[in-house]
Amino acid sequence: MLFGRERHNPRVLKPQRMSYSDLHYILRLSRGDLSLRPIFIVASVELGNTTTKAILTATDLKSGKTYVLNKTVKMTREAKAQEGVFCQTVHAVELSERSIAELVCHTLEECARSVGISVADIHFVVRSTGVTACFSTVKEVEGVIQALAKGCMLAGVPPRKMISPMTIENIPAELRAFSRMDKTYFDGAVAGNIPPSGEPIVGNEMEGELVTAGLKEAAKWVGVDYRNPVLSLDFGTTLAGRITDDELPYAHVIGSFCGLAGAIPDALVSKVVDENFPTMLDFQRKAGGAGARFGRRRVKEKVVKEYVEEIFNHLVVEKVKGRTRMGGVPVNIDAARKNNVVLIGVDAGVNRSELPKIAEIGEEIARSEGIHCLNAVADELSACLVERLVEIAMEEGLLMRNTKIGITGRAGITGRKPFLTLEKLSALFGRKMDDEVVFADDGLARGAAVLGRCMHQFGTPENPIGGVQGGGCVMGKRLKLQRKEK
Ligand SMILES: Nc1ncnc2c1ncn2[C@@H]1O[C@H](COP(=O)(O)OP(=O)(O)OP(=O)(O)O)[C@@H](O)[C@H]1O
Ligand SMILES: [Mg+2]
Repeated sequence: MLFGRERHNPRVLKPQRMSYSDLHYILRLSRGDLSLRPIFIVASVELGNTTTKAILTATDLKSGKTYVLNKTVKMTREAKAQEGVFCQTVHAVELSERSIAELVCHTLEECARSVGISVADIHFVVRSTGVTACFSTVKEVEGVIQALAKGCMLAGVPPRKMISPMTIENIPAELRAFSRMDKTYFDGAVAGNIPPSGEPIVGNEMEGELVTAGLKEAAKWVGVDYRNPVLSLDFGTTLAGRITDDELPYAHVIGSFCGLAGAIPDALVSKVVDENFPTMLDFQRKAGGAGARFGRRRVKEKVVKEYVEEIFNHLVVEKVKGRTRMGGVPVNIDAARKNNVVLIGVDAGVNRSELPKIAEIGEEIARSEGIHCLNAVADELSACLVERLVEIAMEEGLLMRNTKIGITGRAGITGRKPFLTLEKLSALFGRKMDDEVVFADDGLARGAAVLGRCMHQFGTPENPIGGVQGGGCVMGKRLKLQRKEK
């Protein structure tokens, strides 16, 4: 099955690592002479529904480019707790504050150690989570973020490195010269987007903010001008993302995404993977051995499309109305309305009620077509989901002529998904979309680096991330706005 493959050339930012020796060299230079490339090291600590990650990035404050130094990935189910349980993942893994803190601590320590730096060398830590589907209100998510803070502190991160610095003295001495804190201050805008005010709209609001910012940075590496207006999508186990307009100096969020993403392929393979809390990752790894073995076996396009259609019959992809949860994820539609944000979500029935049906379809596919077919179905399914989400955004009038699209998260960028997605989006827009869609690994971690920069006012006017496509740096306009507000 190679449909789409030949005709499109997706802009994919693959995972790239900078070696320890390169980093060491640059660090030494920056410490010896401030005029030489100073490096801002940020750790993104993410408690996901399936994976828990510590990702270390180094941003060259002169060029604004972010390098991934190292990434340590653990399965969140390793933190399964017996007592003190206060939340659970989409896959019903129960977690306690302590179990989260311990997993996070080990993950962060291992990540730093294996790249040859110490936790003390990290300048800033950003915590985020997708584990929100267990709560009935958006507010309760705060408890998970606090558990993440405990884990980071256990690893030796002081609290001041987890909050926005208030004065220039709170910025590491060797980096102070790069901060514009004497002129501008952090007003909540991240990468040129002002977040919705008041109560969060979705449980995983912060993921939406971070991936939008991260995709802006990632796009620089593949030569796409992914500044506002943009539409970002994070296909983790759950869905996150935002749509922005093109206002200056800051764009507004006009759309937000929520609900399920990877949880759907996870359900699809759940009956063919022999594992507690099975996921598509296990399928790739184990049955995935078979997937790889059978990878080149032909799969009939028509058969795949029919199965995807059948799965879609069990899915709800729509503008969220009259609900307090989507895919189990708490949503606040009053807050959305007040902020003029259109909320678009994915669910399987009502709060995942149809996932068992999708598991049955997966079992049937494995039986009648062979398990290798499940990969093809998952790829097609993901591309169809992106297509439908973008189509709804279009119907709701949220897309501008030049809105760029960015996708991150394993459930959105692995396998043949970029090719299939481009094929569908090109048909939807009636033009070849290769230059208008960015696919990136580690979008969220790159966003953590960008958020860290915004909080420290480390802008790069010659290579701006904020502002609009084709435009220049918005610092002048920000100065004016902030003077007015003072
Ligand atoms: N090849 C694949 N096809 C489809 N889905 C996949 C594939 N590989 C992994 N996934 C799914 O992607 C999800 C994991 O991605 P990721 O690690 O980005 O999510 P997460 O951060 O744990 O979740 P969240 O951010 O929602 O809390 C899982 O649901 C996983 O099964
Ligand atoms: Mg995630």
